[in-house]
Amino acid sequence: MSNSRISKVVAREIIDCRGWPTVQADVWVDGKLKGRADVPAGRSTGAHEAHELRDGDPGRYRGLGVLKAVEHVNMEIQQTLIGMDVTEQRKIDMTLKALDGTPDKSRLGANAILGASLAVARAGAAVCGLPLYRYLNSNCYVLPVPLMNFLNGGKLTANDLEIQEFIIMPVGADSYQHALAMTTEINEHLRDLVIEKYGILATNTGDEGGFATPMHGIWEPFEFMSKAVEKAGYKEGDEVVYAMDLAANSWFNRKKNTYALDGKTYDREALIELYGQLADKYPVASMEDPLHEEDFKGFAKLTEALDMQIVGDDLFVTNIERLRQGIDMGAANAMLFKVNQIGSLTEALDAAEFAYRNQYGVQVSERSGETEDPIISDLVVALNSGQIKTGMPVRGERTSKHNRLLQIEEELGAGAVYAGRNFARPQ
Ligand code: PGA
Ligand code: ZN
Repeated sequence: MSNSRISKVVAREIIDCRGWPTVQADVWVDGKLKGRADVPAGRSTGAHEAHELRDGDPGRYRGLGVLKAVEHVNMEIQQTLIGMDVTEQRKIDMTLKALDGTPDKSRLGANAILGASLAVARAGAAVCGLPLYRYLNSNCYVLPVPLMNFLNGGKLTANDLEIQEFIIMPVGADSYQHALAMTTEINEHLRDLVIEKYGILATNTGDEGGFATPMHGIWEPFEFMSKAVEKAGYKEGDEVVYAMDLAANSWFNRKKNTYALDGKTYDREALIELYGQLADKYPVASMEDPLHEEDFKGFAKLTEALDMQIVGDDLFVTNIERLRQGIDMGAANAMLFKVNQIGSLTEALDAAEFAYRNQYGVQVSERSGETEDPIISDLVVALNSGQIKTGMPVRGERTSKHNRLLQIEEELGAGAVYAGRNFARPQ
């Protein structure tokens, strides 16, 4: 048995796809580098996320530097972890949580703790000679349906579209590889349609690779997606269904308690009615953050009213306490899984486990600020979650995740099952 004691932990400041600094951490075992991981970052963030520690020095990266977080890894976190068994992920994560001592990881920084936590997981897998997904779960076999973010608005683009993400789910594919082929075929048709109506400039993309067009409201993007699906020769509702991340916080008016969408004002009930009309016309299978992040009651009403997956992102922030509140009230029926919202792998996995036990789905997600690190691809397979939101495969920080899933699909071979239409409950 080789030595599995941590001998060194180091971090550095690297950059993400926006050119913003983020933390990369390395974990050494028995004198050798065994695990490395990068920390993602959001732009459309929830108010209840764990604290991302940034330097705040306006003279450097306009305050966005992460040198303090890096120093916390190199000093306190390293001192604490040296000598610990790298395969004891839970013990390590709980030790770091206690070392930080705050409820939101604001002392050391959730980015510092998560960098170490994810690098520990990779190092543990390497020490055991296993790919990360199998190290985390010996019984994993589900390849997820990708939620393909075709049209972007909200905080992730510079256009007037309030709703953040209009998504196509290729549920009729028979493998992940096939799902990617379908996606690109449909996207090429969408591109032609966008150029035809809005010109070539409208095919510039937002943070997650979807087109950032001058479209408006909620209906027009669906008209385009529907036409693109048809032109690509796929059957809407059967082979392809739709999803959205409404990110409703960003168009909710707190003072008036109303939502402003495409020049109209909606209260909660009117908005739920609008969503119902949309679902009557198009096969919408999943909606994320359809209401603002404090409206658990509204989420419960809407989950009851609409026969589809309702995902809590800003609502739950991968936090088991907020998820518990949602489950108690019947708010949503799925949790978005973003490791940096809570700041350690163990706590994120615990929240997912709790979701499953309560018949809630789990959708693993990218952040808008990603690096080329594909760790969420291993996590989505480890969780048998059945669904991943990881952007359009048109830029490196997104393709890395899709390409990793292709590798995993090949490694699992005949044991792999593409979640397809069972994406919400694959297990
Ligand atoms: P974020 O956006 O990573 O900027 O939070 C993605 C989302 O809201 O799901
Ligand atoms: Zn979201």
